[in-house]
Amino acid sequence: MFRFQYTIFILAAVFAKSVAFTLPPSASGSRSTTHLNFFGGALKKAFESDDKLGKQQNAGLTNGPNENDNVTLNGKKIKAVVGQKVSVVAAQNRVKITYSCKKGDCGTCEIMMNGRMTKACQASIPQGKCDMRTL
Ligand code: FES
Repeated sequence: MFRFQYTIFILAAVFAKSVAFTLPPSASGSRSTTHLNFFGGALKKAFESDDKLGKQQNAGLTNGPNENDNVTLNGKKIKAVVGQKVSVVAAQNRVKITYSCKKGDCGTCEIMMNGRMTKACQASIPQGKCDMRTL
């Protein structure tokens, strides 16, 4: 037991010595920094920026989302993005669709989309007019 407590004490002392937190910027204009110097700077290197990767790229959709303004669900106009899954759009708009296989095999999730029976688990929002009705 003593050995364990001693080890904890040593680790706490090393940790306290290697971690430095600076308070938020004050009126004097000092910069807020956090030093991650535990274990010989191993964490500091883990969070460092890799300059070899070049300029940061947009992680989202290029040219923004392609929104479709002509989407209705049970007669109500809703927001949707072209290519978005119908099951996701229905859930976002709190329209309950019953699913079973979610693979397109059973037909439990069928809805009417632009006058045609469509499996909601497989369908996505098309370009242009999209009128969806649950059964
Ligand atoms: S849940 Fe079975 S076809 Fe959609």
